[in-house]
Amino acid sequence: MLFDTHAHYDDKKFSEDRDEAIERAYKSGVKYILNVSYDLKSSSESILLSDKFDFIYAAVGIHPHDVAAVDDSAVSTLEEYALNNKKVVAIGEIGLDYYYDNSPRELQRYWFARQIRLAKKLGLPIIIHDRDAHEDTFNIVREEEAGEVGGVFHCYSGSVEMAKELIKNNFYIAIGGAVTFKNARKVVDVAAFIPDDRLLIETDCPYMTPEPFRGKRNESSYVRLVAEKIARIRGVTTEYIARITTENAKKLFKIYTPD
Ligand code: NI
Repeated sequence: MLFDTHAHYDDKKFSEDRDEAIERAYKSGVKYILNVSYDLKSSSESILLSDKFDFIYAAVGIHPHDVAAVDDSAVSTLEEYALNNKKVVAIGEIGLDYYYDNSPRELQRYWFARQIRLAKKLGLPIIIHDRDAHEDTFNIVREEEAGEVGGVFHCYSGSVEMAKELIKNNFYIAIGGAVTFKNARKVVDVAAFIPDDRLLIETDCPYMTPEPFRGKRNESSYVRLVAEKIARIRGVTTEYIARITTENAKKLFKIYTPD
């Protein structure tokens, strides 16, 4: 049983065969999917997906790429979405992206802090996107005391040292398809290091496709390839990685289903 903690099934790359791709994931053993959002429209689509499919849960939030396009009322809309829908289990994805810089950095920082405050108000964990912004991301996490709700650094690309600090601050580390890439180094070290009770896996589908499908569209059924690679790195079975990462995600997102 696998838990894909980061998917984007509302993405237009799934518009031809969305339901089939989702059902394929379930049949392949992915029994939980968290669909993560990037703006208000995506947040409402994530909720619709969570209504339609028992095993899909939703995170609502504004991605750093998209913060320039929203106004302050977005915070209360997100709050309503979370309060009115039981399957909203996190706020995300939120954070900083200094690689693409699609929105002004000042605005990215403002919205990151603002959404952390919302998550704390709602008692929901956060899904963090951090690209080339490790220092500012961690500073805001500390200043805002985000550890109070905790959450996950998705598609983690930082160092082992930083991972240690994040874990001390009540965060989980999610490893995705990058760990399967032939030139992967840092993320392999991280995958070897993360303690059993802090590790999560994800696809970030339709992006970040693992080997041997790199270059094609990603989907949740490929999260098994991530689990397999981590199992090889850690010298344990794939089933063991599947079990602990599912338990961790259910605990983080407070999902109390029997198995
Ligand atoms: Ni994402």
